[in-house]
Amino acid sequence: MNVLLIGGGGREHALAWKIAQSPLLEKFFAIPGSPGIAAFAECVENISADDNAALVSFAVDKAIDLVVIGPEAPLVNGLVDVLNDAGIKAFGCNKAAAQIEGSKIFAKRLMKKYNITTAAFEVFDNPDDARNYIRKQGAPIVIKADGLAAGKGVIVAQTLDEALNAVDEMKTFGAAGNKIVVEEFMDGEEASVLALTDGEKILPLIAAQDHKRALDGDKGLNTGGMGAYAPAPIVDEAIAAQVEEKILKPTIDALKAEGIIYRGCLYAGLMIKDGAAKVVEFNCRFGDPETQVVLPLMESDLLELMTACAEGSLADKKISWSKSSAVCVIMASGGYPKAYKKNLPIDGLTKAKSLGAMIFHAGTKLKGDELVTSGGRVLGVTTTAPTLREAVDKAYRAVEVIHFDGVHYRRDIAARALK
Ligand code: AMP
Ligand code: GLY
Repeated sequence: MNVLLIGGGGREHALAWKIAQSPLLEKFFAIPGSPGIAAFAECVENISADDNAALVSFAVDKAIDLVVIGPEAPLVNGLVDVLNDAGIKAFGCNKAAAQIEGSKIFAKRLMKKYNITTAAFEVFDNPDDARNYIRKQGAPIVIKADGLAAGKGVIVAQTLDEALNAVDEMKTFGAAGNKIVVEEFMDGEEASVLALTDGEKILPLIAAQDHKRALDGDKGLNTGGMGAYAPAPIVDEAIAAQVEEKILKPTIDALKAEGIIYRGCLYAGLMIKDGAAKVVEFNCRFGDPETQVVLPLMESDLLELMTACAEGSLADKKISWSKSSAVCVIMASGGYPKAYKKNLPIDGLTKAKSLGAMIFHAGTKLKGDELVTSGGRVLGVTTTAPTLREAVDKAYRAVEVIHFDGVHYRRDIAARALK
């Protein structure tokens, strides 16, 4: 098969690494790719990942059999629809289905209509009405922009003042913040369950836990994710069964009832407390960094599974998993998720690999022959080992030999599961 991968972050590096192991793979391209993905695929930088027409003609030109889409923006932008119209198969959901991430209001109303457990909410397009409602409810309370805001459109307000200010902050998200959702605060422990689906059958992947806050002990600002581990023990057998039967399956069925066939990866962000899981959010794609710990534990052929999702032939497929644990520590630029410097030289990758780590590139580029930083999240240092403890120790041994100026990482990835 000829495959085209869209994206260039750590998630896409992990996808490329896994796809490249498939005996089905022939030619492999990535747009835009990254210095890490370049080890597996020809990276094409002169086509933009949001230019649907150019992507379709590239796929036709290169006789691509499957386009694998990493990030949410091209899905929300209808890339799968135009590819399918041109007779090209894609792993990823169509534009209508991508609303589950692209519009918080769409997702919340779907859950309410079909009794899928989530936080109580109200929708506002007038800031004054939102503020009045918040004053009545009190804090803690959660304020969300309706549309995509690069992971920054959610404010968990601990005080009434913070909540009222958050309403003003929604304006800074442009059109995404024209409508806002005000949500009940949910207490508990978070976990991510990703699932492959062809719109009928659902194959949940092993559960992972992300670390969203910038600093140790879940302090500091929300980020795209500072590290992850899998499997996450908080998702025991009972919770996993509940998530499949009460959340994932009903959601795919709800979409079907609304005339939408969901194919691709459905990501359920969960809040778990007292043996019950509630939905925090859905994403219409693989999680990042979760993918960087889930795929190293997958023993099955991912390309075969993705093709089955795209073709609607997942019914007879299964996934086998390694019994090991995986950990990913994100090495980020100093200052992230706020302003940070770029173009700083990165050293120590060869040494880190010799210590048994996989290094997924999240935000790097080549300047001549030199690898430099080019994003907020720079590297995902990932290890697997028979136990979580060993995987954590191995990951941090590798992290310690990697250097760039201002590097910042959390020192407590997986600490909750090790307690
Ligand atoms: P989201 O982008 O919706 O995943 O929100 C980002 C983060 O905000 C989540 O991972 C949670 O940590 C937190 N969050 C969102 N909604 C709620 C809620 N209703 N209660 C508590 N925390 C929340
Ligand atoms: N790790 C959070 C996300 O992928 O949205």
